[in-house]
Amino acid sequence: MPWPMPALLVWGAAWSVFIVATRWLQMSPVIALLLAAGLAITFSLRGETRWRRLLIAWGFPLSLGVSGVVGDVPAWPWLLPLLLLAVLYPVQAWRDAPLFPTPAQALKGLARLAPLPAGARLLDAGCGLGDGLIELRREYPHAQLTGLEWSWPLRFACAWRARFATVRRADMWAADWSDCDLVYLFQRPESMPRAAQKAARELKAGAWMASLEFRVPELRPTKVLNCDDGRQVWLYRAPFAKR
Ligand SMILES: C[S@@+](CC[C@H](N)C(=O)[O-])C[C@H]1O[C@@H](n2cnc3c(N)ncnc32)[C@H](O)[C@@H]1O
Repeated sequence: MPWPMPALLVWGAAWSVFIVATRWLQMSPVIALLLAAGLAITFSLRGETRWRRLLIAWGFPLSLGVSGVVGDVPAWPWLLPLLLLAVLYPVQAWRDAPLFPTPAQALKGLARLAPLPAGARLLDAGCGLGDGLIELRREYPHAQLTGLEWSWPLRFACAWRARFATVRRADMWAADWSDCDLVYLFQRPESMPRAAQKAARELKAGAWMASLEFRVPELRPTKVLNCDDGRQVWLYRAPFAKR
């Protein structure tokens, strides 16, 4: 089921339980809240990443808390974070990945496993606030770096933080990857088959697709970088090898 459908379904189910319990069964709001939150937390355990588990678990209690249904918290503050989220995060970008930056030093050792000549072209597809670009520059100080970002505010923030790179507001799926020597991704598990297909079509022989954390199940990685924090960077060199 594509994200964020699981979260929306769980929040909807938790709200239904809460309404049925308080309105029809006349239960106390505290018991109803515990029941509904218990349901949300139980389903959240099935979330694929820690970020998703948190969102699934917290969506219902948070929305209840600010909805005004219990207590006298007015409903309007609920709209502010939603509005902020919508500006920062155009709906199209939700399908690919939430804003989660590449941690500092996460790519340490990448240039040793995937060496590239000075002037090589590197692309951070979905560059967010620029943390991925900053880490790529640490590894490849003489490369030409480009970042593509769908969200306008993030694109501007990234251009400001990563002044050494060319940063554009663009859809990474519509962009041409054919002149890249390395495409870096930190997206979400469901985006990886699409990214692999695009990379297989467009990357020249010898170019790399590097993905932090999320692998492509159908492909055999050429190399794997083990990060200090226990994550992996999956490295695929074109032409890709199937499992
Ligand atoms: C997990 S963040 C990673 C940010 C950055 N690459 C890093 O590692 O620090 C993913 C980013 O991809 C962006 N994104 C998602 N779909 C996109 C698309 N189709 N085109 C461009 N950017 C996209 C999101 O807005 C988000 O900022």
